[in-house]
Amino acid sequence: MKAITIPEFGGPDVLRLDEVELPEPGRGQVSIDVAYAGANFAEVLYRQGVVDVPLPFVPGIEVSGRVRALGPGVEGLRVGQPVAALTIVDGGGYAEVVTTSAELVVPLDGHGLGPELAAALPSNSTTAFLVLDRVARIEPGESVLVHAAAGGVGSQLGQAARLLGAGRVVGTVGSPAKIETARSFGYDEVVLRTEVAGSGAFDVVVDMVGGTARRAGLDLLAPMGRMVVMGNASGAEDVGIPANELWFTNRTVSGFNLAAFSAAFPAQAGQALRRAVAAAARGDLRVRVEALPLDRAAEAHRRIESGGSTGKLVLEVAAG
Ligand SMILES: NC(=O)c1ccc[n+]([C@@H]2O[C@H](COP(=O)([O-])OP(=O)(O)OC[C@H]3O[C@@H](n4cnc5c(N)ncnc54)[C@H](OP(=O)(O)O)[C@@H]3O)[C@@H](O)[C@H]2O)c1
Repeated sequence: MKAITIPEFGGPDVLRLDEVELPEPGRGQVSIDVAYAGANFAEVLYRQGVVDVPLPFVPGIEVSGRVRALGPGVEGLRVGQPVAALTIVDGGGYAEVVTTSAELVVPLDGHGLGPELAAALPSNSTTAFLVLDRVARIEPGESVLVHAAAGGVGSQLGQAARLLGAGRVVGTVGSPAKIETARSFGYDEVVLRTEVAGSGAFDVVVDMVGGTARRAGLDLLAPMGRMVVMGNASGAEDVGIPANELWFTNRTVSGFNLAAFSAAFPAQAGQALRRAVAAAARGDLRVRVEALPLDRAAEAHRRIESGGSTGKLVLEVAAG
């Protein structure tokens, strides 16, 4: 089958369209004929070697498509069924066929969701619900600050906060051109990240940018506030968070990583994906999706790395 491989770590040009062996589902797994594969910051990190994986590696943490085959012990799914799936534990989504745990696969029958949108939900939308609900444990009426609010995951966090009953929801962006885009994703206010000081105190802060954004987020936490650290898109040096400061100010800092969560708690990750699919099907969760053909994966990576992209890029494998 055809797949995009990472034969060596490096820039976008290392991505290659290759012929690779067809994967077969193991116990508890299914294989999926991929329609679209989501393109994410995560795959950029795999390609750069920030996350160490054995090479050659087929990236791709989420897909939409149809169930191709069921591995031993799998029940509740059928061959040919349209699905959205997380392939984040072992990667492999930038391919014609991928295998993943059946617990990370969600049927799409009756939802009326197109495969393009369905491929855009598993990573970012699932993460948004898990981060706010399970990690930050958001309560109705609480205020929320989200960095990089116009991005793939940022655009989902603002809307998920609304759905979970948040009060004031504020987003930050890196440039004025992104303010209107972020506003269209459910944020009450959108401010430039450089001007976020003075935006008030927040019960929940979500940081996936790192560096000065992380420090600013910590300073903006209200007493009993919770900051969730879930990325470092700026590539800045890690920010040391002094534990004594948390002690003196009644603040909490937590971490979230969807790959590790999905490996440890696949049923819960699958349940959160179900929630995201249902919200998108109701029209409560919008994603601005743009599709590129699979063989333009390097261009998708370039755009993600540039920091200029908004919304979500997906790769068309076999839209059929
Ligand atoms: N922990 C998890 O499970 C999890 C799940 C999903 C995503 N993430 C993380 O969340 C972050 C965003 O992911 P995404 O898929 O939403 O990507 P994305 O749509 O490309 O968003 C990334 C955003 O980060 C901001 N940014 C700041 N400095 C940047 C730099 N030097 N290079 C590139 N972008 C920069 C940009 O927004 P501004 O222009 O507004 O600054 C950019 O649009 C990544 O760090 C990713 O690893 C983590």
